[in-house]
Amino acid sequence: MLTRGKKAKSDGGGAAPSPSTTSTNGHKFRRASSSSSDATVAPVKTPKSSRSPFAEIKRLSSFRRSKASEAEPAVETASTSSSSSSSSPSISPLSPLAVLDRPFSTVEGLEDHPMSYERGHEIPITWFAAISTYFGYAVLILFGHIRDFFGRLFGVSRYLATQPPPGYAPLLKDWENFYTRRLYHRIRDCWERPVCSAPGGRITVVERDSPDGNKTMVLTERTRECMNLGSYNYLGFADDWQTSCKAEVMPTLDTLNSCLCSARMDLGTSKAHVELEELVARYVGKEAALVYNMGFGTNSTTIPALVGKGSLILSDTMNHSSIVAGSRASGAMVRTFVHNNAKSLERVLRDAIAGGMPRTRRPWKKILVMVEGIYSMEGEICDLKGIVEVVKKFGAYLYVDEAHSIGALGETGRGICEYAGVDPKDVDVMMGTFTKSFGGMGGYVAGDRKMIQYLRRASAGSMYHNSLSPVVCKQVHQALRVIMGEDGTMTGRRKIEALRNNSNHMRRELVRMGCHVYGDYDSPIIPVMLYNPTKIAAFSREAFARGLAVVVVGFPATPIVLSRTRICVSAGHTREEIERALNVIEELVDLLRLRYAKRAMG
Ligand SMILES: Cc1ncc(COP(=O)(O)O)c(C=O)c1O
Repeated sequence: MLTRGKKAKSDGGGAAPSPSTTSTNGHKFRRASSSSSDATVAPVKTPKSSRSPFAEIKRLSSFRRSKASEAEPAVETASTSSSSSSSSPSISPLSPLAVLDRPFSTVEGLEDHPMSYERGHEIPITWFAAISTYFGYAVLILFGHIRDFFGRLFGVSRYLATQPPPGYAPLLKDWENFYTRRLYHRIRDCWERPVCSAPGGRITVVERDSPDGNKTMVLTERTRECMNLGSYNYLGFADDWQTSCKAEVMPTLDTLNSCLCSARMDLGTSKAHVELEELVARYVGKEAALVYNMGFGTNSTTIPALVGKGSLILSDTMNHSSIVAGSRASGAMVRTFVHNNAKSLERVLRDAIAGGMPRTRRPWKKILVMVEGIYSMEGEICDLKGIVEVVKKFGAYLYVDEAHSIGALGETGRGICEYAGVDPKDVDVMMGTFTKSFGGMGGYVAGDRKMIQYLRRASAGSMYHNSLSPVVCKQVHQALRVIMGEDGTMTGRRKIEALRNNSNHMRRELVRMGCHVYGDYDSPIIPVMLYNPTKIAAFSREAFARGLAVVVVGFPATPIVLSRTRICVSAGHTREEIERALNVIEELVDLLRLRYAKRAMG
């Protein structure tokens, strides 16, 4: 339960409080003169694939991400690409010693990089890319239907078994079934590729074969050493774990084992959990914290504990699917505002307060605004200052998901508040995960002591989930000590600096090549637009053939024409590795014609 009562303030701009309707916290507001007709106010929904293609092309050809008006269920698809080619990779094999204490790279000459807080890097998709992408999907769909038709006619198809038995409705939705069989399976080798090494700056990937055109994948004995541009190993703990964390983590296995076999509420809390929670709270600048065994579960079980029927969630359109899942499960009404746009938030919030609940027009019990520190699919940094101003002005609550920003942003890695110069007191619920910067797993929620105490017994993640492994608690605890310099070294500071340098260098070079690069400087997530469905697989496979493990993302995780490769940079990458990766990417940029910022046709 959010317990802090905030005062809703009047809008200096004149469209605000005056008699008649009561606000969230019992304050009086004038009802909006016109009903809430803001086009941005819409319930959370999945992307409309049924929209007219021409209207869609028009919209996307002037695509301004800051004008996106729909909620995207941001399902992300991590992958590394594969190739059956056994040609030797262009990057030399990983030596066991290479994972020990890799040097942190420093890149000169970045002082002049544009400040991330200056927004306005809208990247319109070119007409050619939009039309050729739709054409590509149309051809794939047409051929899929033709193959299905002849398969049924002649009874010869490896997918006939997926038809339901007579009298049964299909278990999977028709379109999803078709999409999986006829589009996804063609390039399935680009995802879910198994690895057999730590996810450091380099990674060992297991090659697979398929006896049936990618319907099933079989592991081979072959492996490939790759430069890793796909894992969220932001601070490089996967690279130097042996020296930075191992000695502190290993004894926990002897005393507490890997699992406590119980939920936090029961017998699942150890000293390691309590110590970690104390350190997390101190790190993020809050009174208390609660740790969960899963980042996704942190959002999906905390949100329903905080808000419910009669409450309103205002969610950024690009929020992660765990936020979408938690919001839906909560039973609260969900409305969205334009991605990372404080002005849109203000409009939606003012309308919501003025209009009250649908039908009854009674005031909302609570209004919770939900944003992310860095948007995982966009690489964009939250305009937290602007959001906080609006939230304070109207007396709503603010929930910030720091999955990608904690550890990675700010001089001491304290995340988006430090980076944006916002007092952590102005954020009511600080959520984050341990999967990215800390070389662990799980998540946390930090806030007022009273709220955290409440969550301990109200959130399903605390009451019904098995608790976070004590070994992972220790890992995250040690990583935090390193980041905070409490291990007596400057390793943490050097890691944070190296991550920023590497990210900005990579981004600057990709922009120089003429790619459409999304996101902000200082963000370790660097999406490079591919657009065409054929380029998704081609980029992934060609990169893999050259010793580069990358993540590619397409529909339904992105709008259908906005497929991309999402490069994740790490402090564990050396300068030479970044340069070699850039050389390979430049080759691919030429091969696949990805210079969309320089030429309409790439
Ligand atoms: C913004 C955001 N929140 C939550 C999560 C879920 O975290 P985890 O993968 O640790 O479960 C993710 C995953 O990447 C994310 O990007």
